[in-house]
Amino acid sequence: MPSDSVAFDRAVDYYDDTRGFPSGEEKHIGALFARVGGLTSASRVFEVGIGTGRIALPLAPHVGQIVGVDLARPMLERLRAKQTTEPVRVIIGDATALPLYSGKFDAAVAVHIFHLIPRWRDALREVARMLRPGGMLLSGWNDKARRLGNYDDVLWQAWDDTVGNRHDHHPGVHPDQFETFLADSGWQPVNEMLEHYYTITRTPQEFLLRLEQRIWSSMWTMPDEAVERGLAAVRDAMQRHQIDPHKVVEYSACFKVQAFLPPK
Ligand SMILES: C[S@@+](CC[C@H](N)C(=O)[O-])C[C@H]1O[C@@H](n2cnc3c(N)ncnc32)[C@H](O)[C@@H]1O
Repeated sequence: MPSDSVAFDRAVDYYDDTRGFPSGEEKHIGALFARVGGLTSASRVFEVGIGTGRIALPLAPHVGQIVGVDLARPMLERLRAKQTTEPVRVIIGDATALPLYSGKFDAAVAVHIFHLIPRWRDALREVARMLRPGGMLLSGWNDKARRLGNYDDVLWQAWDDTVGNRHDHHPGVHPDQFETFLADSGWQPVNEMLEHYYTITRTPQEFLLRLEQRIWSSMWTMPDEAVERGLAAVRDAMQRHQIDPHKVVEYSACFKVQAFLPPK
């Protein structure tokens, strides 16, 4: 049965350039997951929606093995092309029906995935099935509210006011709920939530280009006419707020990781 989730085949050529952490930050993110999950070189880890290995490859040096599942073959091929000695194995599959035996993993990792899956509750049940007793889900996400000094909030607002909130286009968990949906679904937060701040450097022109290229999955199903209206509103907001398109702006981003035990 074809999946009803949003696969990222079309994003493979720009995913790492537009979603990757600034160079050097990825090792802090890998270490963050290991710390939150108490992972060791003996740990067996599963990642749902592993993509190009943005999380798995820097996490791999801290653990024994990572097995990752993804719907998009091109994303997995990109991971394999980047992989050197990291103990990461990938499988094509759907998070809602995982092609793996139950109870084999000490931890599962999930980052920016459940908003793409209409039947995300089934995917959560499958993640729980992957875990051995006492195994934890390590959920990671970018906390947009903690972004500081970022001009693109103004520009996104112009977009949302014109074509509707971009997050409403996702078929699964609303991204505003990333911090709460697991606890709301009966998963029990354990250990301390940890966060890592890093600096992103970008010009408003680069942001506009990304919009024009429709790099975000929320834009993939929008009619061209709506995208054009949104773009016009963003260009207009740049002028109204006298945002210099070529000024390099530094802003702070925050990545969080929280561990959860499955519902009893
Ligand atoms: C936004 S990317 C995140 C990738 C990785 N977790 C990261 O943080 O870089 C989402 C990934 O989930 C995959 N995906 C979406 N729905 C899926 C499903 N039902 N089962 C498995 N993978 C899925 C997409 O193909 C894509 O590679």
